[in-house]
Amino acid sequence: MSDEERILFLQKELAKHNHSYYVLDTPLISDFEFDKLLAELQQLEDINPDLFDVNSPTQRVGGTVSDGFKTVKHNYRMLSLGNTYSAEDLQDFDIRLRKLTDQNFEYVCELKYDGVSISLTYKNGELVQALTRGDGTQGDDVTVNVRTIKSIPLKLNGDYPTNFEIRGEIFLPIDGLQQMNKIRVEEGLEPYANPRNTASGSLKLLDANEVAKRPLDCYLYYMLGERLPSANHYDNLQKAKTLGFKIPNEIEKYKSIDDVLIFIEKWDKKRHDLPYEIDGIVIKVNDIDLQEEMGFTAKSPRWAISYKFKAEQVSTILQKITYQVGRTGAITPIANLDPVQLAGTIVKRASLHNADQIAKFDIREGDMVFVEKGGEIIPKVVGVELKDRNLFSQPTAYIQHCPACSAELVRKDGDAKHYCSNTDTCPAQITGKFEHFISRKAMDIDGLGGETIELLIQEGLISEISDLYHLKKEDLLPLERMAEKSAENLLLGLEASKKVPFERVLFALGIRYVGETVAKVLCKHFKTIEGIIAADVEILIAVDEIGDKIAESVVFYFLQQQNRDLIFNLETAGLQFTSIIEDTSVSEILKGMKIVVSGVFSQFSRVELKKMIEEHGGKNISSISKNTTFVLAGDNMGPSKQQKATDLGIPLVSEEEFLVKIS
Ligand code: IVH
Repeated sequence: MSDEERILFLQKELAKHNHSYYVLDTPLISDFEFDKLLAELQQLEDINPDLFDVNSPTQRVGGTVSDGFKTVKHNYRMLSLGNTYSAEDLQDFDIRLRKLTDQNFEYVCELKYDGVSISLTYKNGELVQALTRGDGTQGDDVTVNVRTIKSIPLKLNGDYPTNFEIRGEIFLPIDGLQQMNKIRVEEGLEPYANPRNTASGSLKLLDANEVAKRPLDCYLYYMLGERLPSANHYDNLQKAKTLGFKIPNEIEKYKSIDDVLIFIEKWDKKRHDLPYEIDGIVIKVNDIDLQEEMGFTAKSPRWAISYKFKAEQVSTILQKITYQVGRTGAITPIANLDPVQLAGTIVKRASLHNADQIAKFDIREGDMVFVEKGGEIIPKVVGVELKDRNLFSQPTAYIQHCPACSAELVRKDGDAKHYCSNTDTCPAQITGKFEHFISRKAMDIDGLGGETIELLIQEGLISEISDLYHLKKEDLLPLERMAEKSAENLLLGLEASKKVPFERVLFALGIRYVGETVAKVLCKHFKTIEGIIAADVEILIAVDEIGDKIAESVVFYFLQQQNRDLIFNLETAGLQFTSIIEDTSVSEILKGMKIVVSGVFSQFSRVELKKMIEEHGGKNISSISKNTTFVLAGDNMGPSKQQKATDLGIPLVSEEEFLVKIS
């Protein structure tokens, strides 16, 4: 088999497995086998750059960083839907439509997914463009980001229309958001509040690599084009399913509005069992000719409407306000409630966010409060039933001292939260710091969990992080529930953590704003902990991706003697404080230059040329803009790229000229 045949075979095979896993939810091979095939394809594509294909499964990992999105006009306007909130509203809708036609017609009922809408264009069976709604007339071209969403097919199967659009909703499943939030909390960042905003924010990220890491999903609900497979909406969607699209199963046809109402009632109850959020039901006329006859108003189609569910709200008694202390000392007030059933779960606690929120609603202990679960995962208190308020109740006095250590709380200008000022000895902060240090993405210490940490602190065996590395078996054995085997495991886990690379050690320290990515950037740039400690704010912000907030936080951390002592102790214990991220830089000849590589080259592959650009300090950019320094142009560069470069006056540099430049 030639390389080309093998590449085509692997692309097809991997696309099939993607579809089985992400659309059908029935994987046919293990992740390991999938990765093996993908690696083989990547390798073959690397050595055959002329066979590059933007819609290859290898392109789903991201790869491009853009400096903004192009605005593109929609072929068909992207309208919104009129809303209804009651059975009467819906009956009015039905009467309106029946006046517009004598024909008997069917309704299609679908769930209303709560995410961001997207319009995908396919030509000759390949994804060529993905646009956001924008203002309805024109949207942002987010194709590079959409390619990373695994349930969206890049190439279609079967007999597809040669040119069509399909619209749908990109969303984050609930467990996807929880997964992302777990990591954010580990990094000391605020969790994302709701799936819709997070999905929308994700789609607008400029770094497609980041988008690829987010567990976005997409349901399609509307096919448009000149030559569609069927004359009705329902069958078009069923056809789209056979082409590889993810079409929801929760879709029904009904002849009467009463049946539509039964469907609505059913899903109003069942919606909390779904793994994603919906905020209503969409009702559409099935027949496409009839849709055209009924037409549009300025803002929305006459032939479709949405029914919005009420955000579920309950009232209950707020027994007590308590306060949580995070590892950074941030205080979160919590409403402890009389347990109440809400949106499918029993709620006992709700977030009160911060002091301002409590003041805004004048929330007091003993109040009858309204608790709501809207798009957010964590329920929140949204109001107080004032007429039920006890005459003798007093306004809430926000705490001024830490509930864990009694230190004074401070609140910086522009920060909504209060912080415990006792960063050194506050037990809540200490436990939080230990838990962060041992967590999976940080030191990942086997055999050590939150409970053991608390026990070790209680017994006075550890008070600062480096104490972990002085634990001995005879210290551990007397502890409750600590068998010989668990003690050995714990010590082995600690020993193994001495090999954890520098960037994870740096992340594990829990410096504010230094998450996984920032830790990597710092390690790569400064190579050693000494280098980082020696850097001042100015030197830090000169590093790509490091802003003043991070820089100030890093400097502040290392200014403190006890943190420097900690580093010394951990270094002595044998932890890694030197980066082994290889330095591949050769020169800085291309420093500050943004370079687009395009076309086919004779001496080096595109991948090799991109590597050279980085080795000489340049940046690879995917599309030509006014900020591009030059285009490294090979043969067969696309005419539209060529035109764009000419229009913007961006020079084209040949392979030979480039090689001379860097030699
Ligand atoms: S159909 C012309 N179907 O709701 C008809 N929209 O308020 C276009 N949405 O912008 C929309 N689920 O983002 C349709 N099953 C569904 C939907 C749906 C969610 C969103 C979509 C649209 C908004 C309208």
